Amino acid sequence: MLLITGAAGFIGGNFVHHWFESSSEPVVVLDKLTYAGNAATIAAFLKPGHCELVQGDIGDRALVARLLNEHAPRALLHFAAESHVDRSIHGPGEFVQTNLVGTFGLLEEVRAYWTELSGEKRDSFRLLHVSTDEVYGSLSDTDPAFTETTPYSPNSPYSATKAGSDHLVRAYHHTYGIPTLTTNCSNNYGPYHFPEKLIPLMILNALDGKPLPVYGDGKNIRDWLYVRDHCEAIRQVLERGRPGETYNVGGKNEIRNIDVVTTICRKLDALRPRATGKYEDLITYVTDRPGHDRRYAIDPSKIEREIGWQPTETFASGIEKTVRWYLENDEWIAGVRSGAYRQWIQTQYGHESRGPGV
Ligand code: NAD
Ligand code: DAU
Repeated sequence: MLLITGAAGFIGGNFVHHWFESSSEPVVVLDKLTYAGNAATIAAFLKPGHCELVQGDIGDRALVARLLNEHAPRALLHFAAESHVDRSIHGPGEFVQTNLVGTFGLLEEVRAYWTELSGEKRDSFRLLHVSTDEVYGSLSDTDPAFTETTPYSPNSPYSATKAGSDHLVRAYHHTYGIPTLTTNCSNNYGPYHFPEKLIPLMILNALDGKPLPVYGDGKNIRDWLYVRDHCEAIRQVLERGRPGETYNVGGKNEIRNIDVVTTICRKLDALRPRATGKYEDLITYVTDRPGHDRRYAIDPSKIEREIGWQPTETFASGIEKTVRWYLENDEWIAGVRSGAYRQWIQTQYGHESRGPGV
């Protein structure tokens, strides 16, 4: 079986959906169910012996040890993290605790478990650490895309803690021989994405007739990957990745934020037109994110060459699916937009609007 951390969140949740499309191998999910975790995302699969959800902290070492010894997983997939850059700017403490200290605790318990394994079980065990392209820092418009040998240069508290966790994973392979795999992926989008991130925030604000807050000049670039393509990359790296290696995962979809937002607006104009005007009328430029990375871009040559993975969705096909999903899933959306969510929106956007056209 697989032990998966953070699978009540966006990518881990999509991974569980993806996993059970082609496998009946059982899964145990360890998730703290923070504001970003939502049991509803994987509720359809929850059944003893098939998919079990244990609410707990990756930093609870006794719990992690118990789960490893009770279930004897052939792999641990580590998605759990504090993941939102803006929140890390407001309060980095939780990021250090979960992403760095939590990952350290997890590694220690995996070391204890793996050391006691023998033969084939020991050789075939994998710890797959899900990380981000943000560890490489920011690119100019003309810099080449990130490769696996690009020096780390994290700029936000979030990316600094992810970089630290990557280094710990690397060290546990190098020093203790733990068969680790690390993936560094670009920006994901798709179903079950918590609406504090750019794409779901824009879709839901637009549908509510609220301002669409674009940071700075809107020309920052991200490399967008449909979440199911990321999940398939993780599945393939788990099966075919070489222990100790890292793999960059990206969609070859470099797009400026303002173009992402206008694409969403036009899609909504077609699928659910406003009574008056266009959705683009709601675009509002706001104060920039402090330390805002200008551009991310992934060179996925290594995963293409060694693993044979390729993305299947273009941005056009992926955003169509994503917008339709948000139009059709009111219940999930209502569930995640709780009081705590409204409080975050007030903290982050309450007084920031500089008005359209700036
Ligand atoms: P998310 O914020 O949607 O989900 C994180 C999940 O982790 C939630 O279910 C949350 O409850 C859980 N969690 C948080 N702290 C925990 C703790 N201490 N113990 C146990 N569970 C805890 O994040 P996501 O977007 O699904 O990202 C998943 C992973 O992928 C993260 O490691 C992130 O750094 C990485 N990543 C994300 C993206 C992206 O675009 N979203 C891209 C590349 C890599
Ligand atoms: O690159 C991978 C990373 O992508 C992951 O590691 C992170 O977990 C994930 O959150 C994401 O980070 P970003 O900071 O790139 O994503 P976010 O959706 O927060 O922002 C995308 C871009 O849109 C970024 O340039 C900031 C901008 N933005 C974001 C928000 C929330 C806006 O212009 N307005 C907004 O309201």
